[in-house]
Amino acid sequence: MAKLRVGFIGTGDERSPGPLGYGMNHQHAKGYKELSDKVEMVACCDLIEERVQRFAGLYGIPNTYTDYKAMLAAENLDMVSISTWPHSHCRIVLDTIAAGVKGIHCEKPMAFTWGECKTMAAAAQRSGVKLTFNHQRRFGAPFRKAKELLDSDDIGELRQVQWGAGDNYDYGSHNWDMASYFNDHNPVKWVMAQIHYTEKNLVFDVHNENQAAAIFQYENGVHGLMVTGPGKDLVACHHRIIGSHGEIAIGPNWGGSVLQVRRAGQSQWQDIDCGSEHCHGPGYIERAIADVVDAVLSHRTSELCAANALLASEPMFAAWESVRQRSRIDLPLTYDGNALDQMVFDGVYPV
Ligand SMILES: NC(=O)c1ccc[n+]([C@@H]2O[C@H](COP(=O)([O-])OP(=O)(O)OC[C@H]3O[C@@H](n4cnc5c(N)ncnc54)[C@H](O)[C@@H]3O)[C@@H](O)[C@H]2O)c1
Repeated sequence: MAKLRVGFIGTGDERSPGPLGYGMNHQHAKGYKELSDKVEMVACCDLIEERVQRFAGLYGIPNTYTDYKAMLAAENLDMVSISTWPHSHCRIVLDTIAAGVKGIHCEKPMAFTWGECKTMAAAAQRSGVKLTFNHQRRFGAPFRKAKELLDSDDIGELRQVQWGAGDNYDYGSHNWDMASYFNDHNPVKWVMAQIHYTEKNLVFDVHNENQAAAIFQYENGVHGLMVTGPGKDLVACHHRIIGSHGEIAIGPNWGGSVLQVRRAGQSQWQDIDCGSEHCHGPGYIERAIADVVDAVLSHRTSELCAANALLASEPMFAAWESVRQRSRIDLPLTYDGNALDQMVFDGVYPV
């Protein structure tokens, strides 16, 4: 079988990871490098020449570009990893679909607006392109083992999924996705939220609130609680999964193992061994890349698919829309914009 020809858009620079960029495509490239029997990294692109040259040198990529459209036109790529900031995801994904690729693996959050999320997913479906988003925590031991405990009836029937994080959108995108995973991708029915936003918090050039709280319910009746910023201490975990006969804590802030369970009648949490894995890795992105490559080669759907990313993104945008409307938002979400950005534009939050 011919190897997949892989290209990269937005190489970034991985040497000083932080709010101005993590160079996430370097991590994608390390994942592809482990699959040298299946893929060939042939081209990479960044607006900044020095970054693309460094990336090409590190991973032995022969062809470099500073214009991604030129790369797409010249390289006959099968698969493209996109790691630019969210404002540009939709435009670049649409151009990459139009170039005739088989697979696109794009960084999260899906897009700047809810409308763009739907546009990308629809375009990929029309063209038969495997479009996936890098919600890599799905491939982490604490999360997988938590799901196994839940599925083995260890804590009874799922009643609530709670999560705490820095924000609703940039990091929260992962948490919404994992919450959906724990509830077997049941769609969210409604979301009701409030936020506090006084200190400008642009993450990858997108406004993120300073603090939020939201309650939500899935179609199957399971409830959810999301808290961000200083309020995340209310949940005190990355995720807290509450069943009819116990609860599971992932990344608890009270110490002990990254995964803990407390069954009905037990007063103490029990540590579950996850080896050296914590909430952020290691190895998650490599497994995500292996999965999306396999999905392209074997014509199957990856669990990082756009349909699952939509399930995570809709309540995320609905939470901000709930604040804008001062009301509960029943899904499907009909507002296609980014409600927090709109509220900042309208002067509701003069940050
Ligand atoms: N999955 C995760 O856990 C995780 C972690 C951090 C960041 N992210 C996400 O990854 C995405 C990118 O973040 P990053 O940290 O890699 O950013 P980065 O700033 O390190 O890299 C982005 C690169 O894209 C380049 N770029 C921008 N527009 C371009 C264009 N039109 N053509 C070619 N190159 C272009 C920039 O020059 C920059 O070098 C964001 O959506 C972010 O939220 C995901």
